[in-house]
Formats: sequence, structure tokens, C-alpha cells
Amino acid sequence: MIFNKSEIIENLQGKNDPWLFAEADRVRRSVFGDEIFLRGIIEYTNYCKQDCHYCGLRRSNRTIRRYRLTPAEIFSAVEMVVDQKISTIVLQGGEDPHYSADWIADLIKAIVDKFDLAITLSLGQQNPEVLRLWREAGANRYLLRIETWNRENYCQLRPGRQWENRLNCLKALRELDYEVGSGIIVGLPGETPDSLAEAIIGLTELDLDMIGIGPFIAHPQTPLKDEPNGSITLTLRTLALMRIMNPFANMPSTSAMECAEKGARIAALKIGMNVIMPSITPERVKKLYNIYPGKNAASDDSEHSIAAVMEIIKEAGYRRSYSQGISPNLVRRRQGKTIKQQ
Ligand code: 5AD
Ligand code: SF4
Repeated sequence: MIFNKSEIIENLQGKNDPWLFAEADRVRRSVFGDEIFLRGIIEYTNYCKQDCHYCGLRRSNRTIRRYRLTPAEIFSAVEMVVDQKISTIVLQGGEDPHYSADWIADLIKAIVDKFDLAITLSLGQQNPEVLRLWREAGANRYLLRIETWNRENYCQLRPGRQWENRLNCLKALRELDYEVGSGIIVGLPGETPDSLAEAIIGLTELDLDMIGIGPFIAHPQTPLKDEPNGSITLTLRTLALMRIMNPFANMPSTSAMECAEKGARIAALKIGMNVIMPSITPERVKKLYNIYPGKNAASDDSEHSIAAVMEIIKEAGYRRSYSQGISPNLVRRRQGKTIKQQ
């Protein structure tokens, strides 16, 4: 089902939440049944050359202790994922110039040579040659949030960056046959019902394989420290609308939900989200991946974060899947079915 802009705005304002949330879960069950896909996320560096106004890892934040995982630490995290029968890893980091494109390519090759894993990268905006190198090395998927659909807002919040370039990067990823994920932060300063509705329509038009959306959480060491957090209710409505309009996309219940409000990660699973991504970053540095307050703070070691995620799945009334969880949207695209029908 596709909503027009005024229908989206009405639903964002709470026109009929019981219907909206039930419909999102119905759509999710029609494609994914009661299964939840797991992704082990390894946050391998918290250095970043960017200065995004909303993010605690921004380069101007001098109060944060920076870290880089050693290759041995990355490998033992991957082994831990495999031991837990999770079949997808996400390599995430700030945009850290310390690592060359070749170094990352070698890391990807070393992982795919040894393990049967789907590899997702979340390594920021890169040029098409670099993305090709990593794709050829064996990476399958790429996450790059567009963050906001409001272009002026984007330029203010991401100094020196242009919205169109981010969009072009998403197009390049598609051309390179990556499974492509994007999304926004709900509740960034400057967002309006109109711009959020446009984001919902725009993201849907991108025909994404993965869609990651979470609420804004003000970080005390950033210029946005005094801004209000994004609303959980508005985020849930946004997620439900996105699920209904994108039945075949993999959509995580993000950790930002839980940081903003206890129990919100379960709530998101119940209204159509079908993915959960426990952090497998080693305990010695986990808390330092502090994009927003509360991120990685709750659980200590990786076994505990996986156990916590299992609890959440059970409590929400769903079942853990052991598959790599390729996006049905990508499968359909490869089969030449481009029309989003249910
Ligand atoms: N609140 C919520 N999400 C944030 N991100 C960065 N900073 C914040 C924040 N303060 C998100 C961005 C980024 C992802 C890794 O984390 O969308 O793409
Ligand atoms: Fe760096 Fe990403 Fe944070 Fe921006 S959002 S400062 S690119 S880690």
C-alpha cells in the first residue's frame, strides 16, 4: 500500500494508531512470518573525520577517548558471531582515514575466506571505486543513512557535505549490486511534518533493501546538546508507515529506540520491524562507541548483548532466524519484479 503525502501527515499526527500499527505487523508477517534476523555489529573504530552536529563521534568532540580495534580483536569478534550461529556481520565505524581502502578490502577477503557470512559495511560515504573494490573483495551489503530529507538542514548538520552527493553514493551502491540500506533520524532539529512525510515518500522511491530509522538523541558533547530528543511515538508511526509502504525491506529495531525509552525496541518489533543488531564490539571499548548517550551502555560483554536481544525477541513474541536474511526486496529485484506489490 502506498500513502499520499496528506495521508502520511495524518498518520504521523496519530489519525488511527491502532489500525496503523496492526497493519504494519500484518504486512511484516505476510512477508517474514514471525522471524527476526540477527546481525552482529562490530564497531571497529570511533575515529571520524566528519563533524556531524548530532553525533558524539564528531571530530570536534575532544572529550571522547578514541580507539581502533586490532585485526586480532576484529577476528575474535567475528568468531564470536559465528559461534553464536549469527550469519551476518556488520562492520561499522566512523570515517577513519587511518584505514586505507586496500586494508579494508584485505580484511573483507580474510573474513570471507574463513567464514560463511554475509558482510555488511557501514563505513560512510566513499567514492565508487572504493565501493567497487570492497564489493569485489566480498562485501554484500552497505548501510548509508541519508539522515534527513531536508537538504538545507543536511548542509547545516553535516558541515562541508552535500545531500545530493549522499544520494549519488546510494545510487552507486545500487549499480554495484550491493544490497542497499538507508534511512533517517526522526526528530532532528528543523524537521517538520512536511519534511518527514517527504522523507517517507523519498526513501520509498529509492526502493531500498534495508531501512534503518531511529529517534534523535541529544548528545551532551555536541552543538545539539540542548535540543529535545526525537519522539518515540512519532518514530513508531514513521516505522509503521515505512513498513506498510516497503513490505520487502529488512528493517531493524534500532538501539536508539531503547536508549530513548526503555521497552521501545520491543515496541518497534511489534509494529513491523524484523531485524535486530546486537553489538559484538569488545567490552574494553564498547562504551566508547558513544554516538548518542546510552549507546552500548546497557550490556557488558557480547554474550550478554546477544542474550539480551534473544530476550527481547521472545518477549515481543517472535522467533529468531538463523538465516543470512537476504532482503526479499533484492531477491525480487533480481527476479525483475520491481513493482512493490504484496
Ligand atoms: N541520535 C540518533 N542517531 C544518531 N546517529 C548519529 N548521531 C545520532 C544521534 N545523536 C545515527 C546516524 C548514523 C548512525 C550510525 O547513527 O543516523 O548514520
Ligand atoms: Fe562520523 Fe557518522 Fe558520526 Fe557523522 S554520524 S560524525 S560521519 S560517525
